[in-house]
Amino acid sequence: TQSEPTKKLTMDEPVETLFSTTASKLVGKPINRVDGSLKVSGQAKYSAEIHLDNQAYGVLVGATIAKGQIESIDSDSLKGIPNIIKVVTDPEHFLRNSQQGTKTKAPKQGVSEIFYHGQPIAVVVAETFEAAREGAKALKVTYKDETDQAALNFTQELSNAHAVDEKKGSDKNNVQGDPDQGLADASVTVDRFYHTPSQSNSPMEPHATLAHWEGDKLVLYTSNQMLASCKQQVMDALDLNEDQVQLIAHYVGGGFGSKLGIAPESIAAAIAAKDLGRPVLITMTRSQVMEATVRRSNTRQRIAIGANNDGVIDTLIHDTISSNLPGEAFFEPTALSTHHLYRGKNRRVNYEMVDMNQVLSGSMRAPGEAVGMIALECAMDELATQLDIDPVELRRRNEPEQDPSKDIPFSTRQLIACMEQGAEHFGWSERNAKPASQLEGDWWIGTGMAAAARGNQLQPSEARATLQVDESKALGIKAVIETDMTDIGTGSYTVFSQVAADLLGLPIDHVEMKLGDTASPPASGSGGSWGAASAGSGVYLACEQLREMLAEKVGLYPDNIQLDNGQIKKTGEHALTAMEAAKKSGQSFADSTIDKLSQTTGLSLSGQSASQKYDFDNTESYALADVVADYDEQKITAKGQIKPGKNGKSHRQASFGANFAEVAVHKVTGEIRVKRMTGAFAAGRILNHKTATSQCYGGMVFGIGSALMEQVIHDKRDGRLCNHDLAEYHVPVNADVPQLDVILVEEDDPYTNPMHIKGIGETAISGAAAAIANAIYNAVGVRVYDFPITLDKLL
Ligand code: MOS
Repeated sequence: TQSEPTKKLTMDEPVETLFSTTASKLVGKPINRVDGSLKVSGQAKYSAEIHLDNQAYGVLVGATIAKGQIESIDSDSLKGIPNIIKVVTDPEHFLRNSQQGTKTKAPKQGVSEIFYHGQPIAVVVAETFEAAREGAKALKVTYKDETDQAALNFTQELSNAHAVDEKKGSDKNNVQGDPDQGLADASVTVDRFYHTPSQSNSPMEPHATLAHWEGDKLVLYTSNQMLASCKQQVMDALDLNEDQVQLIAHYVGGGFGSKLGIAPESIAAAIAAKDLGRPVLITMTRSQVMEATVRRSNTRQRIAIGANNDGVIDTLIHDTISSNLPGEAFFEPTALSTHHLYRGKNRRVNYEMVDMNQVLSGSMRAPGEAVGMIALECAMDELATQLDIDPVELRRRNEPEQDPSKDIPFSTRQLIACMEQGAEHFGWSERNAKPASQLEGDWWIGTGMAAAARGNQLQPSEARATLQVDESKALGIKAVIETDMTDIGTGSYTVFSQVAADLLGLPIDHVEMKLGDTASPPASGSGGSWGAASAGSGVYLACEQLREMLAEKVGLYPDNIQLDNGQIKKTGEHALTAMEAAKKSGQSFADSTIDKLSQTTGLSLSGQSASQKYDFDNTESYALADVVADYDEQKITAKGQIKPGKNGKSHRQASFGANFAEVAVHKVTGEIRVKRMTGAFAAGRILNHKTATSQCYGGMVFGIGSALMEQVIHDKRDGRLCNHDLAEYHVPVNADVPQLDVILVEEDDPYTNPMHIKGIGETAISGAAAAIANAIYNAVGVRVYDFPITLDKLL
């Protein structure tokens, strides 16, 4: 077998993108999802829908105390229930849950110790799901109950707040200048506390795993966002090696952060399947997803701004406290955008944590910015009101020339363009800034805006690309792309198909995209809005490597070929072809080609070079299928590999935007309706205007959720999650979502990756809730600092 050539790129300097020079027929276009028809026709199988012969069904049992020890689990209590197979427990390996990213060990807390109400302690396995559910409900467990010593009241526990473990968190405490003195000296100040509640990620597809052992090898059909790091967590939890674990997640019905790490049902299913010698499927109930996977932490945030009379900020303080289980490293990185969104020489970002006996907190829908910007952007609105400066103008005056916390340049930053284009579309210039001044019938009308910002990241990613002869395709050839990247509803299948199709000059139905299997090269996974950029770059580079191999094969420089509609064409009128160079120098053609190719590509090329039969002096083009047919096995394969480099440190990279909202507040009941929103976002080049716009809709919708509805309520007596279903935990439904207009502001960011794109998934949510809160203030003249803003808080 031939070894696969690999195109590697470390992002250490700006790079050019081939999309400027290739015929870009698909990239950027609003094409439909390539997996759309499979999904709407039910052919796309999600993990709980996979069926293996002889599979059994497991249902998790959750603890009913918030703190203490298990004394006994009485399997005999299920004796009368038909079809029960076994109660499986494992004091060594049962997971309490883990969320941290790559290479973090899944904690191996024994089942005997209880840390929160709902913590999985056992799994009842039966011949049917119904029997397992009945058994899980009936299982008798006795405890040494220490709930009276549990930390269940955040306000009471605030006095026990402790410093975060910065090494493990995703942000750092940070001080520049003298913020306290700066605040004391400022002409104008805003100094407020904001509270945001715990929230539930609430993906549509509950967590589910079908575990199956092939001898010593564990195969998990599971619902995860990041397969490579989840695989590592499974290896750590069960002491298995690399070759013994395979995770498969071809389709994932949303994650919103709750599927970044391995969840308890995966390990439980693996243990049960091993114990029984049969495949075991565990599907979490909606309540279990909420009680036993992950939540976004509640926060208490202090924002203090000191400015001069023109609104120019000198001092910015963001002190934040979030909560998690005792011993967990994750904290909500609330102040991520505070570092760089506005100017000011005196700055402080500070994080503290409170230990709580509540379900693990972790990443959810723009961890950090989504709740941090509620506080920052509401405080900015308050400053604008105090100074009687338009909120857009206030932000314009505080535009930093470079990242003020690190004194490094931005890669690209288009906050002002986003505000201007958004304002124009929304009709912001007609706004009445005086609060409680517009009554239409029974409704107070108000408008508000907020900036949006979300950090851009690149994660190491690999992909394999193969061009192979395929008679069933119209052009006699197809491209197969393999990576363990997931599509969690975001459009990975589609945008990567667009990238591969354009680079290889094929129609999109000639690209076979194989995602979601750890048997393929490891990619970033879907998280932190880095998926398209990171995993997409692996795909891009693998295809670029194929282009270079093809160029070599036909005796042209890579810059001088154009792949279009299954043809290899010569391009670049004035470029010297390798053939011409060979003729001129009198060198043999093959040597010359290799030499020149090595110089232009920096690759060390070896082996067979261009064949004499490809003579572009006599032909316009060659069929790609014929050229590929020339290779052994009638196919060529290459890998692409991207690594983050210096660019992430030398330049502040973020996507920016602005949300504008109009609300109506009922004058008698206080009911709040969002009437319309406009969001304008700049996230580098856009791979697909339709899927990108959908991501922005999602962000704005969740902005409505966190402004007005979403709130996990734990019972302060026993830690029980009171509103553990979608009837009681409210996310916006269609009736809550008005007309949303999205503007994708043109941008090109050469520092980020070879496609010049940036993360967009979580940009729209970051700041959206503040735009709504600020509109509510404009409508009724009431500022609410305790989210969500429910009607009772306005009366
Ligand atoms: Mo996202 S909360 O990083 O899946």
